[in-house]
Amino acid sequence: MKSIDYILSNKQRYLDELFELLRIPSVSADKKFSGDIRKAAEFIRDKFNEAGVDSVEIHETDGNPVVYAEKILDKTLPTVLVYGHYDVQPADPYELWDSPPFEPVIKDDRIYARGACDDKGQMYMHVKAFEAMIKHDELPCNVKFMIEGEEEVGSEHLGDFVKANKEKLAADVILVSDTSILSNDCPSITVGLRGLSYIEVEVTGPNRDLHSGIYGGAVGNPINTLCDMVSQLIDDKGHITVPGFYDKVQDLSEADRAAMAKAPFDIEMYKKELDIDDVKGEEGFSTLERVGIRPTLDVNGIWGGYIGEGAKTVLPSKAYAKISCRLVPNQDHEEITELVARHLEKIAPKHVKVKVTPLHGGQAAVIPTDSKGYRAASQAFEKAWGKTPIPMRDGGSIPIVGLFQDVLGLDSILLGFGLDQDAIHSPNESYGVFNYMKGIETITWFYQFFAKK
Ligand code: BES
Ligand code: MN
Ligand code: MN
Repeated sequence: MKSIDYILSNKQRYLDELFELLRIPSVSADKKFSGDIRKAAEFIRDKFNEAGVDSVEIHETDGNPVVYAEKILDKTLPTVLVYGHYDVQPADPYELWDSPPFEPVIKDDRIYARGACDDKGQMYMHVKAFEAMIKHDELPCNVKFMIEGEEEVGSEHLGDFVKANKEKLAADVILVSDTSILSNDCPSITVGLRGLSYIEVEVTGPNRDLHSGIYGGAVGNPINTLCDMVSQLIDDKGHITVPGFYDKVQDLSEADRAAMAKAPFDIEMYKKELDIDDVKGEEGFSTLERVGIRPTLDVNGIWGGYIGEGAKTVLPSKAYAKISCRLVPNQDHEEITELVARHLEKIAPKHVKVKVTPLHGGQAAVIPTDSKGYRAASQAFEKAWGKTPIPMRDGGSIPIVGLFQDVLGLDSILLGFGLDQDAIHSPNESYGVFNYMKGIETITWFYQFFAKK
């Protein structure tokens, strides 16, 4: 295909443009970057225009803008709706980066920058695949693009946009590159994402910080108490103790579990890469199962009291924790948030008060493999990588995928190209140049197979 030759010969420019986007610190979690959020949206709008869309607009929402573009060739042809996000996670802690997070560099054929993989690198592959097909008249169907700026904070306003624009977004399939593959030797297609319930807990003891000598031993310490409460949430078998937590969890059949166990996974490599001597999790489940099909409860941060230099003898008034649960199919995130909140209130001893604030959430999703979209993705991998991808359930969450199923009645094909070693959300996030270029090729092939009668 001419598009493929074009992609290969435009490698340097494709990288240069991505670098330009990576230089914009479009962090959605922190208001101080809102100017950069806009800059990133404008950059993408301009690139869609240059690539040859019919129309592109920056759609304002109550949060960050959505970039929407489309190319309609013929209403009787199938339509692909591409979703991606241009916002990134905060780059903190900056001092742990070997090179500044918003000054991309290539080292050992990897692009280092915040967002290199998640999701600027993966999202931009779609813009470039589209450009290549348009240039050579090889786009075989209609395409719509919806690129948002709030994925990393829960996609709250994108949900409103989707509900209000069902007709505009009408399509035959949704295509998303925002997940990973098992390895470059063994590509995979994500067929499951976990849901999420995220809360913040505030535990209050006495009405002010106290002298820990005058009061210590007689007044409950909210940090000690919060730790106590948190430690009760998981038992020694790795089970979450919140009543009702597992009630709706979908159990996999033995056949499905056996199929999952076939995925090549090297536990020794896994431990070595993380520099841990042992793994830990729910009894009776393998590591891949613990991540792919089981729910979790984790403290993401815990704080309170004095954390400055030296020692201060204080019995603090307040303690805080951010707690998230990863959810699996059939668990409802609002219900789980409720269960966890009520349980924390219930186990709180009388000497403290507990306040729980929900932060965000999303439903889990499972993608069937017997669809035209899945088959096209599988064929695209075969063509570009010479290998049949295996279906895999991922542990991460993309909250909007569940909403797409509910509101638009459409499954998302999760055609991601990241690797665990890309360290998304961590310092020194990176993305392989190979994966970036192969991804663009694979996407191009996806369209060819999907549009075939
Ligand atoms: N792209 C990730 C999700 C992901 C990564 C899924 C790798 C599967 C494999 C996405 O940007 C992400 O980080 N999502 C958040 C959820 C959000 C509500 C903050 C997550 O999973 O923590
Ligand atoms: Mn992402
Ligand atoms: Mn992310």
